[in-house]
Amino acid sequence: MTRNDRHPEVNIGLVGHVDHGKTTLVEALSGSWTDQHSEEMKRGISIRLGYADATFRQCPDMDAPECYTVAETCPDGSESERLRTVSFVDAPGHETLMATMLSGASLMDGAVLVVSATETVPQAQTQEHLMALDSIGIENIVIAQNKIDLVDADRARQNYEEIEEFVEGTVAEGAPVVPISAGQEANLDLLIEAIEEEIPTPERDPGADARMHVARSFDINKPGTRADELLGGVLGGSLVAGELDVGDEIELRPGREVEHGGEAEWQPITTDVRSLQAGGESAETVTPGGLLGVGTGLDPSLTKSDGLAGQIAGPPGSLPPTREEFTMSVSLLDRVVGEGDAIEPISTGEPLMLTVGTATTVGSVTSARDDECEVRLKRPVCAADGTQIAINRRVGTRWRLIGIGTLRG
Ligand code: GTP
Repeated sequence: MTRNDRHPEVNIGLVGHVDHGKTTLVEALSGSWTDQHSEEMKRGISIRLGYADATFRQCPDMDAPECYTVAETCPDGSESERLRTVSFVDAPGHETLMATMLSGASLMDGAVLVVSATETVPQAQTQEHLMALDSIGIENIVIAQNKIDLVDADRARQNYEEIEEFVEGTVAEGAPVVPISAGQEANLDLLIEAIEEEIPTPERDPGADARMHVARSFDINKPGTRADELLGGVLGGSLVAGELDVGDEIELRPGREVEHGGEAEWQPITTDVRSLQAGGESAETVTPGGLLGVGTGLDPSLTKSDGLAGQIAGPPGSLPPTREEFTMSVSLLDRVVGEGDAIEPISTGEPLMLTVGTATTVGSVTSARDDECEVRLKRPVCAADGTQIAINRRVGTRWRLIGIGTLRG
């Protein structure tokens, strides 16, 4: 297998309130900036999933935690040893973009919750994101108490206590709280040590069918490229099982909508894998972990502007069914996060925004009972029984997370 040694092997979500320092932290750990998209640059907010890989290293002649580093050269001039490469998924902190965060969460093996020491705990998205981690069941969590360069020792301690109190009874209870300054690159060794201990690389079954969640899709051709020089569409996302090789045939579901006898119908698309990129390098084979780019034989007009985001890819015939409607069991939260309003039961006829894997779709409730409802989707999803679904309801002008569903077929 030609797995390059910078291939990321685990996906770590970076979550937390807007401006608490997620992007700065990723930059400090990886030297790259996740805000790659011009619109994000303009708004200064990560509105799409950004991601960046970081290689954690260890200086052989030093003790923990000082031995942990991202630098290739140690303070004594010796070369550091590579531990592993991790992929950070920089989830947006903007409050209206919860669904993007949740769709990113389906790709996360663990999470770093960034909390600024300069504000009281919890800020709205700190709470919302922790609740999402809790609902989705992401248990491997490290809390980065950021911006400690801006507060005095008393405030840092008080903030630490607020964090501890806030996470009590949640999935993050007992998670290490590491005081850092992403801006000043202080205590990053402690943070790396905590991530190495708390967020292990999951065990994978290399014999399983390949299963890729498509989070982005692109047309990488420059405008005006001649038709005979066009490169096929590119899929960006994460392999959650199996292995993909250059030359493999893959199927994408739900695929595309076509007219069939006057009726619109969704048909799977098949194509072949022409190139693979992982950890910023070309590869012949990729295994789960990190985010990858798959060059395909698809018409780039299908993949441009995230046209295939939310789809699932795998060997033809191996994918779960495409569903235009389904029944889900529902577990509602007690209150709308950040608003404090009690959550009313789901009612027949109401619209819901559902995040299923990397797909986000609007559905209309066709039948609602106490702990179960049936929905009909505007845009179908490909999902297996038992898939978890984030349920969002329109509250005021925003979609807010109200609960978690489990697909029942
Ligand atoms: P969004 O992507 O908008 O959700 O924000 P973010 O959480 O990624 O925050 P970002 O990294 O953009 O940081 C917000 C601001 O805080 C920027 O001006 C950073 O320079 C600053 N900042 C981040 N970390 C630190 C830190 O440790 N110390 C200080 N002094 N400033 C910091």
